[in-house]
Amino acid sequence: MTFTPETEKRLQDIWARYPQGRKRSAVIPMLMYAQDELGMVTQELVAEVAQRCEVSPLQVEEVVGYYSMLNKQKMGKHHVQVCTNIACLLMGGEELWQHTTKRLGIGHKQVTADGLISLEEVECAGACSWAPCVVDGYEYHHHMTIEKLDQLLDSIQKKVQ
Ligand code: FES
Repeated sequence: MTFTPETEKRLQDIWARYPQGRKRSAVIPMLMYAQDELGMVTQELVAEVAQRCEVSPLQVEEVVGYYSMLNKQKMGKHHVQVCTNIACLLMGGEELWQHTTKRLGIGHKQVTADGLISLEEVECAGACSWAPCVVDGYEYHHHMTIEKLDQLLDSIQKKVQ
């Protein structure tokens, strides 16, 4: 499978971090970096990562099935995750989620018609101390408010104008 030179370098860098016999530890980051380029995890990618990490395709499939950040359907250029688990819920996460779905006109794991933004309601983004939390790609936004969320979505949408 051929990737852009940037993605290929990321895959090789991550692969080189793990000693022989422990290459399986590179499965998740490899899938995530490749997903960044492809927008989703394809069957071809599963086979590629299995071969590179010296595990079976079934083992890679199990990882893909377990982790919600790995998507078998094409996500938007910006994948926005809104946490509604307990810490965020208590700090307004549900209101943020409702506001975002209304503003974008899409729901959980759906993509805007222009393919720019996909949305996901997540159980915990691992940033409970800074709740409520919204994540855009790998970028965390803490102590989120509806105003700050609108600014984030505005900035994403302005980038393509
Ligand atoms: S509950 Fe939202 S980040 Fe943990």
